[in-house]
Amino acid sequence: MLSSLLMTGAVLWVSWRIWKFTVLPKIYPNEPKQLPYWIPVIGHVYGMLMDSNKLFTYGRKYFGNTREIFMVTVMGEELYIATSAQDVSSIYKASKAFDFNAIINDIFEGFGITASTMQKMYEPNWDQGKHWIDIIHEIFKEQMHLGEKLVELQTTFLRKIDDCLFWDRLSGAMVLSEPSNHVKVVSAYKWTYEVLVSAASKSFFGNAILDANPDLLKDFLIFDTEAWKMLLKYPPFAAKEMFDAKAKCEAAFERYLTLPVEKREDATWLVRNIETAMKGLGIPDDQTAVMHFILYRLINTNAYRTCFWSLSHLLQDQALQDSIMRETKPAFSSDGKLSMTHLLDHCPLLNSFYEEVVRETTYPIGARVVVNEITIGNTVLHPGKKVLMPFQQMHSNPDVFGKNAAEFDPTRFLNNPSLSKSTSYRPFGTGLTYCPGRFLARREIFMFLVPVLHRFDLKVEGREDRGHAVFPRMDDSISSGGVMGPRKGDDLVLQHALTNPKDRSYEVTNLMGRSRMDTGLLFTSCQ
Ligand code: HEM
Repeated sequence: MLSSLLMTGAVLWVSWRIWKFTVLPKIYPNEPKQLPYWIPVIGHVYGMLMDSNKLFTYGRKYFGNTREIFMVTVMGEELYIATSAQDVSSIYKASKAFDFNAIINDIFEGFGITASTMQKMYEPNWDQGKHWIDIIHEIFKEQMHLGEKLVELQTTFLRKIDDCLFWDRLSGAMVLSEPSNHVKVVSAYKWTYEVLVSAASKSFFGNAILDANPDLLKDFLIFDTEAWKMLLKYPPFAAKEMFDAKAKCEAAFERYLTLPVEKREDATWLVRNIETAMKGLGIPDDQTAVMHFILYRLINTNAYRTCFWSLSHLLQDQALQDSIMRETKPAFSSDGKLSMTHLLDHCPLLNSFYEEVVRETTYPIGARVVVNEITIGNTVLHPGKKVLMPFQQMHSNPDVFGKNAAEFDPTRFLNNPSLSKSTSYRPFGTGLTYCPGRFLARREIFMFLVPVLHRFDLKVEGREDRGHAVFPRMDDSISSGGVMGPRKGDDLVLQHALTNPKDRSYEVTNLMGRSRMDTGLLFTSCQ
């Protein structure tokens, strides 16, 4: 009896496999091909959870590296995977056939935005029937694209970064030990995190945000490290620490909103604007707090990680460090000013290095829902299905980035400047949600790296491997949708020696400077 049941099961299973993965593709040659899987319905759950980028690479290669759109299945849901720059561009261009709001709503829901708030945010209260979700993209751009409001914000922001880059500010969790009065051993990950996130917190939300929760940075780091579990819809019991940290962060923003307005006057225009608009829509403060927290994460999650990887590369490559120091030295004037324009426009190696760090470490995944049947490339996409566009698949394409695409080459963009405008290079996403913070990101990272190189005496400590400190390994198994962090336990441990004196503050000038890259991005961004 048991053996005949097993036999029937086996026959059914083999028939299902042959039908699904051999016969159907022949009957419907224009449908995206389904990447085979073993267990019906469950499909590629394991691959998506454990290392989605590896699964996408496997799928691309399985279909002969043609980069045609293919399908993976996760708990019965079929997802289209687009890995070619051409298909991705076609998808973004055909904006009427694809919906993004469904994706935003999913993210909002994960953070705790209620159906009633969502409904209010979609009321067509603005010009030309626009709703608040349309408006928020516009106000992001007004605040963060090159212009007066960005200058105002970055003046405060960059000054606050500089204020942190002094010997006596090496303190708290970032200091691992203090072997003597003039030596501190510091975690590079925590250092970049604390400097950039504290500067961003105060310059966007004003000093009051850290009064509302002096432990905000600690709580946010716990949340941010495991936020991918929230995006993958882990139940609260399976990610308790992350959900607890999230609740503490949101409580901080709720407390912040109860402080008198005079105490929050130093918040940036964008933050005040969101608050006023949410009040106008009749949205309660606890929901505005969640919206503030979503913004807080967008502002912070990628920049400190990029800065960490940049510092790791610079401090482990003496020749590169020397060249960048030589190139950036003229940015400092004898009267103590640091010219941002010089860094942006006259330091091609620094800018190429930055582009390469971002290419290597960013794993954004664009997502859309098909609303009208459409043909992209040779494949027909059907309404209701989600398309994922894992941009790292394009960033590692040797046909575009050369045979050494898998290696880190700081001169790649210097030798081939057109790469930064390639449709295969999309570290900041594209389309409606094209990262408006990309201008600020480059400036804040330069504002950390350049003074650090010129001001501190740093030595890398750490696990030794044939005479070299081991480079922290990237945890590319997590589908965070942004810049990857290091693997658990990996860090760059630095020894800071107080030898000097160069310890003084630089006044940052020429904040309106545009870089070669910015100029390109500016004109392609306004979509
Ligand atoms: C190297 C650092 C950064 C990287 C790699 C990065 C990447 C991205 C990507 C890929 C998106 C699109 C997400 C999507 O389509 O769902 C995005 C959106 C966004 N980023 Fe960034 N980002 C960085 C730094 C920043 C900074 C410093 C800020 C603010 C100061 C910022 C603010 C935003 C905002 C507000 C959005 C949402 C835009 C919208 O929905 O209209 N980002 N970023």
